[in-house]
Amino acid sequence: MLFDSMNHPYYITTPIYYPNGEPHLGHIYTTIVCDVLARYHRLAGQKTFLLTGTDEHGAKMVKTAADQGVEPRVLADRCAAVFRDLWKELRISNDDFLRTTEDRHKAGVQEIVRRLLANGDIYLGSYQGWYDVGQEEFVTETEAKANSYNSAISGKPLTRFEEASYFFRLDKYRQRILDHIENNPQFILPEGRLNEVVSKLKGGVDDLSISRATLKWGIPLPNDPDHVLYVWIDALSNYLTALGYAAADDSLFRQFWPADAHLIGKDILWFHSVYWPAMLLSLGLELPRHIVAHGWFKSAGRKMSKSLGNFVDLQKVRAAINLYGLDGLRFFLLESAPF
Ligand code: ME8
Ligand code: MG
Repeated sequence: MLFDSMNHPYYITTPIYYPNGEPHLGHIYTTIVCDVLARYHRLAGQKTFLLTGTDEHGAKMVKTAADQGVEPRVLADRCAAVFRDLWKELRISNDDFLRTTEDRHKAGVQEIVRRLLANGDIYLGSYQGWYDVGQEEFVTETEAKANSYNSAISGKPLTRFEEASYFFRLDKYRQRILDHIENNPQFILPEGRLNEVVSKLKGGVDDLSISRATLKWGIPLPNDPDHVLYVWIDALSNYLTALGYAAADDSLFRQFWPADAHLIGKDILWFHSVYWPAMLLSLGLELPRHIVAHGWFKSAGRKMSKSLGNFVDLQKVRAAINLYGLDGLRFFLLESAPF
């Protein structure tokens, strides 16, 4: 499983977190699990690369910043520093920390979009429908209605928008992704999560709206700079841009791709197991070996989240470290919420 093929370089990633607030127990959990795996593989003598970072564009960052009366850039700078410092404090052994507002990332993403365009996988259309800003996710009419037009995750009202948008030909890759999952039963772990993805995929997918003309905080499309790229296309690309994919020096990419494991919470499984493989197939790249999704720390029945503010915060985590030590915290987290 995660411990197979010990002789090749090992590449493991955390999600890149939204710097729209301070990290909490959930982000700490995923990051510590990744750190434990990375340390294990290094000890076993494997060349290992652990990547983490922050996902700084999109509507959610704009909204949170506006609520605080600051520019998105200011909010991103402030919170990204908190994430970066926390990983040092928790002695996370990450080899890089990528911010999606960095030039190296933006240039890589624009090159990725150019390649998707060149393959004929992007076309101009118009989007009409529901959007969950907290999740940065399009929601179908059926799903929206089932939750009374509120977010299934946060319970907050959905936003409606109608505008010109570029689309990515997701449907074109649906069957290839289903085949890949069937031929690689450990592609999505654990198995229960794989079944969720397969049944949703079998129900069919729409092409994906990947640009916003009404949003300014994002990476401009190389072919039409009046549109910024959908934040998930921007964010997922980090797993490649951090390695220098499509850059002058792509030695890390050549050494470490494909990723061995993208570790994530189940909230972002669909993006990683469908949008991301479709992008990679379009780019002609190998798919990651494993996508590993864990469950949620909850509070009063809802997922602990920055948006709801219902979480175990850094102060409480630090108090626990003072009492039990950092290794105590690490042991507790791994032991109390096993995969
Ligand atoms: O989704 N319990 O960022 P995010 C367990 N930027 N884990 C939790 C958790 C909880 N209550 N809350 C958060 C994003 N997590 C995107 C990711 S990746 C290309 C882009 C962890 O700040 C868990 O790993 O909302 C979850 O998937 C991640 O934090 C979401 O962090
Ligand atoms: Mg989230």
